Amino acid sequence: PRSIWLSRHGESQYNVEGKIGGDADLSVRGYAYAQALPELVAKSVGDAEITLWTSTMKRTIQTAHHLKYPKKQWKALDELDAGVCDGLTYEEIEEKYPVDFRARDDDKYNYRYHGGESYRDVVTRLEPIIMEMERGENIMVVTHQAVLRCIYAYFMNVPQDQSPWMEIPLHTVIKLTPRAYGTQEERFKADI
Ligand code: G3H
Repeated sequence: PRSIWLSRHGESQYNVEGKIGGDADLSVRGYAYAQALPELVAKSVGDAEITLWTSTMKRTIQTAHHLKYPKKQWKALDELDAGVCDGLTYEEIEEKYPVDFRARDDDKYNYRYHGGESYRDVVTRLEPIIMEMERGENIMVVTHQAVLRCIYAYFMNVPQDQSPWMEIPLHTVIKLTPRAYGTQEERFKADI
């Protein structure tokens, strides 16, 4: 049966600084992950034909750089837009927008950043992506934490409003294979 492979981008410069959003380059560790990826996925891909999807952001494109599969960039795979909070740390958000910070904590799925998006918005914009993924080809998706949480919840049959709490760590490839009795999951962690 066909499978899908999911990975976050490697650690970015913004990840190191604790900032959200932006369009930063990978960090040194992030580049090490990009270099380790071909070997990490080779074992589980074998000689299957796969297509690699990234967002339009530098950190996902850089992460996919060494993978020699046909590639496609999707704007719909860009990270949850944090609006006015883009480029801030969570500490700075709490300080500048204390009411919002608490509102997000109370209802993380529905909370929409000013000038940005909620997880619910991301689920909506992912609909065409998920439809395309359902068509049955082998696809590897290199994208962002919030986006992957929504895609993962969908394929694992977890209610969409639970998406914000899915565990999608850095530097780990998740392989999902839909089966008659449910989705089989394997995780491959890079040794970097
Ligand atoms: O801003 C997007 C992050 O990747 C997701 O983090 O737990 O604040 O939604 P979050």
